[in-house]
Amino acid sequence: MSSYLDRIGAGLVLNNPEVFGFDFIPDILVGREELQKELASIFGSISHPEGTARAVITGPVGSGKTALAKRFCKDVIRHLADKRNIRHVHVNCRNAATPSRVMQKIVQDLDPGHPDRGLGVGELLTSLRRMLSNSNSHLIVILDEVDHLLRRSGDDIIYKLMRIDEDRDGTGTLSTILVSQEQILDLLENAVLSRVGRSNHIRIPPYDENGLFQIISQRRDLGLVTGTCPDEILELVAQAAAPSGDARQSIELLEGAAKRAESSGRSIIEPKDVQRTVITMPNNVDSMNIDDIPVHAMLILLGLCRRLKKQESVTSGIAEKLYHVVCEEFDESPKGHTTLWKHLKRLAQEDIIVTRTAKAEVGRGRTQHISMPHMLPSDVARRLETLIPTKIRR
Ligand SMILES: Nc1ncnc2c1ncn2[C@@H]1O[C@H](COP(=O)(O)OP(=O)(O)O)[C@@H](O)[C@H]1O
Ligand SMILES: [Mg+2]
Repeated sequence: MSSYLDRIGAGLVLNNPEVFGFDFIPDILVGREELQKELASIFGSISHPEGTARAVITGPVGSGKTALAKRFCKDVIRHLADKRNIRHVHVNCRNAATPSRVMQKIVQDLDPGHPDRGLGVGELLTSLRRMLSNSNSHLIVILDEVDHLLRRSGDDIIYKLMRIDEDRDGTGTLSTILVSQEQILDLLENAVLSRVGRSNHIRIPPYDENGLFQIISQRRDLGLVTGTCPDEILELVAQAAAPSGDARQSIELLEGAAKRAESSGRSIIEPKDVQRTVITMPNNVDSMNIDDIPVHAMLILLGLCRRLKKQESVTSGIAEKLYHVVCEEFDESPKGHTTLWKHLKRLAQEDIIVTRTAKAEVGRGRTQHISMPHMLPSDVARRLETLIPTKIRR
């Protein structure tokens, strides 16, 4: 039989594709212990029969807000299993930006058979109250991307959810976690704000390169066949995603690179798999900002690109040698050391290359390790080979 189907399920590189899925949340959130503790302390009273809590989580895209909120709910439900019957609902307000959509989503999640059609917000709130008191459970509602709801419909439904106990005899029925990318406290009215409390606000910073490295290293261990993805590949992925600090982007890049390696029939991920994936990603750095750099920066870059086709990174010492070779090829006399450093710095500032300083293994001084995570070195080299002659002639 034809072998074209052999690749299906071959799992040369990917052995658990689901860990790269959108909804996958690992048991351990890497490097977020402090934030998890902060959230846990806001929810300190939830172990008591009537305790409730309210938290706000804000941070940039891909900083792990949703993961933090969902992981917390799952963990706390398990942690308090023998003390309290806690449930949680995650509402993405991008898809539910009106009070009735929010209420439908909550009620439907708790009781998939609930007839919500045609019920008003008040009736849905009554149903919710009844469901929770009948099952004697406490509900944590995560209102994710809540800015969509606030802008479209204000905070009335949040207020009503927070007051669900106030005019009945129930107590401790419901907790809320509001999650959003931007500063949302400004969008909240005083009535809600005073119920949330400014001190219950957790601000999440974006991930830095090292944070991203740790996250994708965890995904590699969970999702890829051992030995298919060297650390250097993770470094390249982390560098590529570092300008955004977006963990989602780094995970997608790793997955994309793994798939590329696999579909080429390889069982090891190579730098080009990462670079090719990066250039297909929507918010990829404009690769054409190389047109305006000085000629000698181009010559340096060309030397680098030729080597970076074959390996992840090049040291600055080697970069200088490669530059000399390229100068000879184009009949230019090489500039000195200082100029080389100046150009390398500029190339890094423009996100064309990424440099990392490491202590030299022999002798004194610093060595830089140069890589190119955002672009495909072979593409850049090709472009430079046509650009450079036109610049030199002038
Ligand atoms: N600390 C972390 N450890 C492991 N995975 C993480 C961590 N932070 C984020 N992620 C993963 O990165 C992706 C983006 O996180 P997410 O919570 O959706 O970000 P946000 O909601 O802030 O946009 C998700 O796949 C999530 O599982
Ligand atoms: Mg999110």
